[in-house]
Order: sequence, then structure tokens, then C-alpha cells
Amino acid sequence: MTAPTDAEHAPNVARMYDYFLGGCHNFAADRAAAEKILEIFPDTGIAAQANRHFLRRAVRHAAEQGIRQFLDIGAGLPTQGNVHEIVRQVAPDSRVVYVDHDPIAVAYARRLLPTDDRTVVVHADLRRPDELLAHPEVRAAIDLDRPVAVLLVAVLHFVTDAEDPYAAVARLRDATAPGSHLVVSHLTMDGAPPLPAQQGQAVYRRSSAPLVPRAHADVLRFLDGYDLVEPGLVPVAEWRPDGEPQERVSHGYGGVGVRR
Ligand SMILES: C[S@@+](CC[C@H](N)C(=O)[O-])C[C@H]1O[C@@H](n2cnc3c(N)ncnc32)[C@H](O)[C@@H]1O
Repeated sequence: MTAPTDAEHAPNVARMYDYFLGGCHNFAADRAAAEKILEIFPDTGIAAQANRHFLRRAVRHAAEQGIRQFLDIGAGLPTQGNVHEIVRQVAPDSRVVYVDHDPIAVAYARRLLPTDDRTVVVHADLRRPDELLAHPEVRAAIDLDRPVAVLLVAVLHFVTDAEDPYAAVARLRDATAPGSHLVVSHLTMDGAPPLPAQQGQAVYRRSSAPLVPRAHADVLRFLDGYDLVEPGLVPVAEWRPDGEPQERVSHGYGGVGVRR
């Protein structure tokens, strides 16, 4: 990547995640913060890969159920196995809208992804779902009268309770047709000792977004109004493993619901 501007000097959660995944779209400040996280939780890179594997399996499942429209909110920087590549293996005519609130992630996605009328990159914020849904490019690509898969993968844990992520997710649910899917993965500290958890959160407090791990019951609430697909909300690596080689390391829960 080219030399950082002032805005890029602070660690950024999208680029830290890129570093955890072994990507090259990150700067020194991102790498330094990510290395601090790796000192505290050495298997974070493996857990990030497990999250991507969950995303791949969940998205493929939705496509196999007949979903042809995908709204990937908090999509992040392009990486190996982007959503449009996964779903088009099942259904080449699928539409994919990538959404992120980070202008740099959006700029890189626009530059690196083959955008056309079926693959769109939109700058919008999960915390403002009405604006997101009303965005002209979202409206052009997604028909809300037909089922859509809304992907909220490793993004809700960057939205604090004070910002009311539950209301935002409920708004997205209410705007989508019955049969729509919700794919959620979410960081947890269930079972983690308190000190490393606090140390990890301290690193993220100095980044572009605070980290808000949630307990199982609190993640489950995001899926209110949806019927959970088996095996329910489980550690991401345990959600329908499909024989692809992967280490069973999960730092969060993953689940898929179908809107009633
Ligand atoms: C850890 S990355 C996850 C990327 C991808 N979903 C995945 O799981 O591989 C989190 C992404 O969410 C984005 N994000 C955080 N808060 C957001 C918000 N309020 N609205 C939209 N995107 C957000 C960040 O910019 C970042 O790109």
C-alpha cells in the first residue's frame, strides 16, 4: 500500500483483521496493534481464518437454499474467498452488495473487486440502517420483496450497546422478506480469563473502533425473529464443518437464521 495519510496513522480494525488473515493491505500502526493482540491471544490469526471459513460455509448454505441476493455489512477489505466468489460457484446470477463504513476499506474494495451491476461496494453504516437500506446502489441491486441474506460477520462486536445494535438488526430484519437469512458471527470472551480480555479491549480502545465481546445469550438476541438453522449459535468452527482443512479454533459464535 502507498504511504499512510494522517487518518491512516491510527490502528484500524479492518486493516488489523487483514493483517491477522495474512493480507498486505495494512500499515505499521495496524501491524503494531495487531501484534499486541497476538501477544495476548496468540491464536488470533487462526481464529480469523476460522471466521472466514464460517462465512464461506454459511454463505454457501444460503445460496444452496435459493438465496440470490447478499448484503454483506462490515465486509472489510477484499481477501481470498470473497462473498461474490463463493455464491457464484452455486448461483452465477447472484447479486452481492458489500457495505462498510470505513472509507479506506470501501476504496480498496472498489479498486480490487470486479464491480458491476451484480457486485456493488457501498459506503454506509450499520448503525444507520434506514440510510443503508435507502442507499440508491443498495436499492438498485437488492429487491427487498425477495429473500436476501444479510451478513453481519465479525462486525457487531464493533458496535457498543449505547449505539443500540439490536435496534439496527431488528430494522434490517423488518425490512427484509420472510425466508431471508441472517448470518451472524460475533466475538465472545465466554470462558476467557478476565485479564487478557481487558488487555485486548484496551488495544482496540486506541484503534478505530472499540471491541465489545458479548456472551452467548446476548449474541442470540440478534437472531430474534429468525428460526435458527442447525446446529444453532455455536463456536464458529463448529458450525457445519465441511471437511475443508481447518484448525478448530473459535474466538466467537456463529449462526444462521431464517426470517419467519
Ligand atoms: C473484522 S472485519 C470483518 C470483515 C468480514 N465481515 C469478515 O468477517 O471476514 C470488521 C469490518 O466491519 C467494519 N465495520 C465496523 N463497524 C461498522 C459499522 N458500524 N458499519 C459498517 N461497517 C462497520 C470495519 O470497518 C471492518 O471492515
